[in-house]
Amino acid sequence: MKRIPEPELMDTPEQAAAYAEADFEEPHSQIVSQFQRVFPNVDVSGEILDLGCGPGDIAFRFARLFPHSRVTGVDGSHEMLKLGEERAETETLTDRLTFIQGIIPGVPLPEQSYDAIVSNSLLHHLHHPEHLWSTVRAYSRPETLIFIADLMRPDNPETAREIMEKHSGNEPEVLQRDFYNSLHAAFEIEEIREQLQQADLNHLQVEPISDRHLLVWGRFDGAPF
Ligand SMILES: C[S@@+](CC[C@H](N)C(=O)[O-])C[C@H]1O[C@@H](n2cnc3c(N)ncnc32)[C@H](O)[C@@H]1O
Repeated sequence: MKRIPEPELMDTPEQAAAYAEADFEEPHSQIVSQFQRVFPNVDVSGEILDLGCGPGDIAFRFARLFPHSRVTGVDGSHEMLKLGEERAETETLTDRLTFIQGIIPGVPLPEQSYDAIVSNSLLHHLHHPEHLWSTVRAYSRPETLIFIADLMRPDNPETAREIMEKHSGNEPEVLQRDFYNSLHAAFEIEEIREQLQQADLNHLQVEPISDRHLLVWGRFDGAPF
């Protein structure tokens, strides 16, 4: 199936609110479990960068998983970040969780490099996927842990529809439509391998982790974990 890109930013109040209220408990708890699977026994006690953080659910989960870490979430959408900031106040995590509005690539970030760079569901939004990989390069040092999860494009529209009905059949229509479009905008594993090759990051592992998700992970310098 041919890739159909979707708009990069999710910046209408309706879209941000529907996304923040959606039930991502299962896929997002899987993200955290996958991090623990690929980086066993790691306790990140430094700086974590979450690229394309949206309303921050993944950032919150990492902040709770690693109580000595500080998490910086970056997103271009003011509407998404507003919801994340409100939640951080409610959950009294403002001392360890910071949100920065800006466009990847190019957004200036406070640290020169991070202990871990994580991202969920940003890559498929990018019209230039190399922008994710150049940002990963710019903010890594040799031992940085890279952990990028995203949707995986199905072979055909029928499969995309089946996946949408199976996993978001109970969500509001706006979310079902977003999900269906996102499946069309996602990359195939082979396309991501090519992107990594181009970015000189081909030592990172790429693997499917569900019927609709894939994971790119590894240490920035390629040292085994
Ligand atoms: C599908 S949401 C994922 C949000 C969050 N990571 C999660 O898993 O819940 C994708 C987010 O990426 C943001 N985004 C897309 N392109 C971006 C860019 N070039 N720079 C910054 N943020 C971007 C969108 O605004 C949106 O909030």
